[in-house]
Amino acid sequence: MDKIVVEGGNCLTGTVAISGAKNAALPILASALLTDGMCTFTNVPDLQDIRSILLLLESLGATVTSDAHTVAIDATNLAASEAPYDLVRKMRASILVLCPLVARLGHARVSLPGGCAIGARPINLHLKGLERLGATIDIRHGYVEARARRLKGADIYFDTVTVTGTENIMMAAALADGVSVLRNAAREPEVVALADVLVKMGASIQGAGTAVITINGVKELRPTQTEIIPDRIEAGTFMVAAALTGGDVTLTHCQPAHLSAVCDKLQQTGANVEIQGTSLRITAGQAIGSVDVRTQTYPGFPTDMQAQFMVLMSCAEGQSIIKETIFENRFIHVSELRRLGADITVSGDTAVVRGVKSLFGAPVMASDLRASASLVLAGLVAEGVTEINRVYHIDRGYEQIEDKMRQIGASIWREKM
Ligand code: EPU
Repeated sequence: MDKIVVEGGNCLTGTVAISGAKNAALPILASALLTDGMCTFTNVPDLQDIRSILLLLESLGATVTSDAHTVAIDATNLAASEAPYDLVRKMRASILVLCPLVARLGHARVSLPGGCAIGARPINLHLKGLERLGATIDIRHGYVEARARRLKGADIYFDTVTVTGTENIMMAAALADGVSVLRNAAREPEVVALADVLVKMGASIQGAGTAVITINGVKELRPTQTEIIPDRIEAGTFMVAAALTGGDVTLTHCQPAHLSAVCDKLQQTGANVEIQGTSLRITAGQAIGSVDVRTQTYPGFPTDMQAQFMVLMSCAEGQSIIKETIFENRFIHVSELRRLGADITVSGDTAVVRGVKSLFGAPVMASDLRASASLVLAGLVAEGVTEINRVYHIDRGYEQIEDKMRQIGASIWREKM
């Protein structure tokens, strides 16, 4: 298993190009199942999670070809409708094939994703939505088995805002008979990106990006070409890296509008954020001020940036309160950050972070994707060497993070074990 080693103390300066968004690419690649013919996607990030979903699509009978950041998928001849345990346990987002398979083939058998490090993460709302669209659902031997001759439009209310739940049901409703209305829908940019692709394929969808999405089902969709939107969480992670290290970093190929909450919080800490079209320049302030953060659904502060922001607050002047409202167990990085000298106490969904003068390098263990990113960030400012183990988590969602960090002056490398 590889580890990432960071030697702290360098100030980051320079330019980094942001990759395509993992969480936009995953549902969009799954949407290729909804149609015959070849769909082509560009700006697809080269990540483990993307390789996992492409393997899954191939196992269903789709033809997949990829070259650099372009992926072509032809799902004309689907031969199977099962997502096996071995693939789903590696990546929960495999559940995104459930609705496209039912809509296209009339049936699907998908392994139930279990809990993960950050929470129980049930999929009850995906299943409730699909049932409302007329599918029968059985849970047997750890698998969801869903069937429907033709899905029928319905009014669906999500008890909790769910990103992949909204995406899954939107794909099912696109091929259902009649009108569906999704209420309390997720408003994340990744949901809008998927809706845009479905519309290009011939779907009729209004309201994506708001809490009410209306979908007029169509009989069939056609293949399309699309570019994956930039990864707002990768961008946010590099923004924190710049502010944390006293740096001056320009991020290109990003969508600043998707980062309003992160930009706002960073500015409150004293960093300067300049937006120029699709570029963002972050210049660190004289000192890091402490601010409170509460994670929320979009356009609120993203839970996927909570761990990284906690590192910044660990090095701030004063005390910050960080409240995690989306996942019930997303503070696992805290005990690792404490090993580096951070002063953080957690009570329920709230962390109190008291800024310290210095962090000190130590071996640490990555527990999930964003926790790993926070450990890399901490390593950038810790005195001495930080070794991050279990880096397969980071490879799921950050494309060449050590190359990109090195490009702007970090002393970071990967060691094969
Ligand atoms: N929830 C339910 N029932 C459901 C679905 C969700 O109770 O049927 C709850 C979850 O347990 C959680 C909350 O609703 O407490 C929100 O979960 P959501 O469904 O929105 O999360 P997700 O769709 O599984 C996506 C991202 C996550 C990101 C969350 C929140 C993808 C592939 N994953 O997950 O990304 O944290 O939305 O924004 O889009 C990451 O990239 O590191 C990551 C974890």
